[in-house]
Amino acid sequence: MSPPEWGELLRAPLFHTPRNPFVHDRALESHWDGGLLMRDGRVVACGDFETIRAANPKAATIDLRGGFLMPGLIDTHIHFPQLRVLGNLGRSLLDWLEDCALPEEARMADESHARKVAHGFVHALASHGTTTALVFGAHFAAATAALFEAGRASGLRIASGLVMSDRRLRPELHQSPDSAYHDSSELIRCFHRRGRLLYAVTPRFALSTSEAMLEVCQTLRSEHEGLRFQTHLNENPREIAEVAKLFPWASDYLAVYERFGLGGRGAVMAHNVHPTASELERLAAEGTTVAHCPCSNAALGSGLFGLKRHVRAGVRVALGTDVGGGTGFGLFKEALQAYLLQRIAPEGALLDAAQMLYLATRAGAEALGLEEEIGDFEPGKAADVVYIRPPVETPLAAVLERTETPEQALSAIFTLAGAESVQEVRVEGSIVYRLNQAIGQ
Ligand code: GUN
Ligand code: ZN
Repeated sequence: MSPPEWGELLRAPLFHTPRNPFVHDRALESHWDGGLLMRDGRVVACGDFETIRAANPKAATIDLRGGFLMPGLIDTHIHFPQLRVLGNLGRSLLDWLEDCALPEEARMADESHARKVAHGFVHALASHGTTTALVFGAHFAAATAALFEAGRASGLRIASGLVMSDRRLRPELHQSPDSAYHDSSELIRCFHRRGRLLYAVTPRFALSTSEAMLEVCQTLRSEHEGLRFQTHLNENPREIAEVAKLFPWASDYLAVYERFGLGGRGAVMAHNVHPTASELERLAAEGTTVAHCPCSNAALGSGLFGLKRHVRAGVRVALGTDVGGGTGFGLFKEALQAYLLQRIAPEGALLDAAQMLYLATRAGAEALGLEEEIGDFEPGKAADVVYIRPPVETPLAAVLERTETPEQALSAIFTLAGAESVQEVRVEGSIVYRLNQAIGQ
């Protein structure tokens, strides 16, 4: 075996989108006989295998032909305490929250329960090829800490934070602005920028946060460098009408957050199914990202997302699975759902494979302000890699045997790949997950 200083050269067809395919033509970069040279956890070169091997003859080649390589997937909207409410179909947002999500979230007061769920949650991320996630924590500091601890043990990149609310949920989920400030400050001290962890200030949504609580969010962001921010926006017509009543001074939903400076790069607002033209303009001007969650939008009947309107207005869009309002952890499925709903939406976009890959990878890196670090295979970036290899005798294996172009292969992966096809996942070059094998726990 070559010593590690020569690096490891993975050999397989590979894809990535170093440029935004909604803006640039031919944004998909692919190599049918691809090589990805990694050293010290970083990408050293990405391209044609023979060319890279000729320039690096001492690197250890790992032959992965038969499968496909792509950057680690990035989920920009998901709730850790909702793992166990997946599959509750048939309700709209506010009823679903009351009947399904919030009772389960209240169980996070039990720290040992929270630890167990957190462990299953990060495992599910990895087994679906997700290497980075922006995660709603719990309403309880200890449970949120349990998620960070599980994230640290898993090797994944996790941005998360205490969910802040002081009204309209159920009393056991409410904190005072003071206690939310103190608990958040302590979690930031313990976990923000520790290894691969980041802290995200997380007011649940305008409906459950008073102005005093939103002011706490603003204060936290001003007191600490590099915090991310996440919340919900314009998901459901009933929710929007209630928000308008609670904040009569606000011209629209987004204006509530704007009043407290809660937007901009590193801020992610989930859903935005019912925006006004003015809100889109302001989101674009601020650089705030919208997390598009098409499975959840359909499951909760929230509505059809105006992807073209967002893109035309210049709003950043990435993908979120929104577990447990959504239908699971798979970002391939999420991107497929985006494709399917756009296909039938009035004025829908026609998504291609490059756009689906971008939404599931690089767009998420941009949302989190991590585009210099992850999201594609440009040299110097962290080697966060998913190896897709469907089991034999599956439809995906059959399709991939006869695909002739990278675009065809990628479309087939997005259409058919689930966790059973995620063979191996690396973060900074190290294996954090291998199918049917427990790692690092
Ligand atoms: N709005 C406020 N909380 C939630 C939640 O947990 N899920 C979704 N989909 N929307 C929300
Ligand atoms: Zn959500």
